[in-house]
Amino acid sequence: MAKVTLKTLADMKQSGEKFTSLTAYDATLAHLVSSQGVEVILVGDSLGNVIQGKNSTVPVTVDDMCYHTRCVTRAAHDAMIMVDLPFASYATKEQAVANAAKIMQAGAEVVKLEGEGWLPPIVAHLRQQGIPVCVHMGLTPQFVNVFGGYKVQGREQERANSMIQAAIDLQASGAAMLLLECVPSDLAREITKAVDIPVIGIGAGNATDGQILVVHDMLHLTPGRKPKFVKNYMAGAASPQEAVAQYVAEVKEGTFPAPEHSFN
Ligand code: KIV
Repeated sequence: MAKVTLKTLADMKQSGEKFTSLTAYDATLAHLVSSQGVEVILVGDSLGNVIQGKNSTVPVTVDDMCYHTRCVTRAAHDAMIMVDLPFASYATKEQAVANAAKIMQAGAEVVKLEGEGWLPPIVAHLRQQGIPVCVHMGLTPQFVNVFGGYKVQGREQERANSMIQAAIDLQASGAAMLLLECVPSDLAREITKAVDIPVIGIGAGNATDGQILVVHDMLHLTPGRKPKFVKNYMAGAASPQEAVAQYVAEVKEGTFPAPEHSFN
């Protein structure tokens, strides 16, 4: 695989080839996923849950993200590295640039922010400073205390319309990518068609340009009940390498996510 860049993903959207993404938080996981052809590694603030054992992403800090980014970059091979700006670290343009700069200098190639209508000025400012942004919309885990839980977003027409408009506005402000979490498949399809930038989905049906999962979930390492959108790729796999390879194959051929992993 040649080095994956934003241009690679834009070309894949154009040609209709699906791309894959998984989280990784250390060199071992980065090697595992990139060696199986995963195009985008997300150093997600989900590390608060799966690495630190916290019950949300809210306690994760910029220093935590920088540490894990440095670990991942040592073994990411040709995958593109996207990194979350953690909770409340991009409330103003100045704060966003200062924190995103630390994360880029740790090895990120794209930063991810959570939100919708209020983000365009921040996205535009980051882009002006040479920092590409992916905007995470729909169920945004940093806002769990506002939402009052982890719920599917965009089922009501008014909210669906505002998400479509936000996607268009975010593209106009310079967003490089969008990520949709836990939104009905039809809405995700509409948003993916409404913008030219690549759209990644998790719990958003199979019409988005790419798919992402938390690697610990798909390798069945996390205890307890899993969200509906997670598939256990270790079932039937002889190794984690085989499980990741199967995920890549199913995303590329459009068989993952199946209807049972999606919301209507
Ligand atoms: O932090 C994370 O792992 C994420 C994924 C759930 C998309 O944002």
